Amino acid sequence: MSSSPASKIAPAMKPWVGGIHAYVPGKASVDGRPVVAKLSSNENPFGPSPQAVAAMTAVLGNSNLYPDPAATALREALAARHGIDADRIICGTGSDELIHLVAGAFAGVGDEVLYVRHGFAVYDIAARRVGATPVVAPDVDYACDVDAVLAAVTERTRVVFLANPNNPTGTLIPASEVRRLHAGLRADIVFALDVAYAEFADGDYEDGIALATAHDNVVALRTFSKIYGLAAQRIGWGYAAPALIDAMHRIRAPFNVPTTGQAGAIAALADHDWTARTRAHTIEWRQWLAGEVTALGNAGLRAIPSAANFVMIEFPEAGAVTAAGANAALLSDGIIARYLAVQAMPRCLRISIGTEAETRAAAASLRRYVEGAAG
Ligand SMILES: Cc1ncc(COP(=O)(O)O)c(C=O)c1O
Repeated sequence: MSSSPASKIAPAMKPWVGGIHAYVPGKASVDGRPVVAKLSSNENPFGPSPQAVAAMTAVLGNSNLYPDPAATALREALAARHGIDADRIICGTGSDELIHLVAGAFAGVGDEVLYVRHGFAVYDIAARRVGATPVVAPDVDYACDVDAVLAAVTERTRVVFLANPNNPTGTLIPASEVRRLHAGLRADIVFALDVAYAEFADGDYEDGIALATAHDNVVALRTFSKIYGLAAQRIGWGYAAPALIDAMHRIRAPFNVPTTGQAGAIAALADHDWTARTRAHTIEWRQWLAGEVTALGNAGLRAIPSAANFVMIEFPEAGAVTAAGANAALLSDGIIARYLAVQAMPRCLRISIGTEAETRAAAASLRRYVEGAAG
């Protein structure tokens, strides 16, 4: 029986799915050693607001009931916070889902999805998943080069993704550059401005709300996974013109944000002290960590200027001090960073800002490694 020709027929993966490299998440454990600090996924080291925890605990008993499919109360809370229309908001299973919804609603076979080199890894997956062709524009020192993105637009471009601040590089382009990029795009191209790290940026910054209010082809993508410390609840939201929101609703899963997540997000939004503390801490320790890396400058290390809750470190092109070596040394100290070889940056290591103790431990481990390897 087993040798009949029919048994050799197997389901065929779609060719565009075969081209996908599955997302590699940051490590969560160290083989055989206690974890001193998990600094691999840009999470909030203080956890969620206690008010969010209380709100989630209060609704656990409703777990037999499907969540509100429209996330009405959460959208209204977001609308009130940002002074925008709740009907222009869509909630998603993390902003990851929203990235897929944008690609799925506006791109397909024969279309192009454009983003910057070293952009967020999910853009490539989202493009390929729907059979579209990912197109990568060159960066300038790890940051978005607006002219290069505009030069890469073709008549087949349907979606442009930009993470600002960008992950994994932490780089930021100013509001004027974001607007110049948008202004250079045709009106039929969706500009998806992914501001997952908006709350950690400062200065001249465009968070997409004004842009998406004024233009029908802009969607701002945001998340509760970072400053709000609710990554496990998987809550993202998008803000755009009604026609874009309508298209995304058509293809989303009906009950895509759990009741706990909706309740936790509403409470987290209201706890300003918690987010203010996380923001102040992150900015202080991001500067401190970058300074520590700069102090190791003789060894050829460079901290890429970051506007997010992590610092990416570039290692020298040659010599004994390498990103791979540093990653291994940190791991042996129980510190999990993100080695970026999986994203074609074998010279780079990304370290999330942890608590003071965690961040100090990471810097000390890095220094020990560099001094040992260089000396
Ligand atoms: C730039 C960027 N966008 C989107 C996401 C997805 O976040 P989530 O799906 O947790 O909302 C991440 C997560 O790391 C990110 O770095």
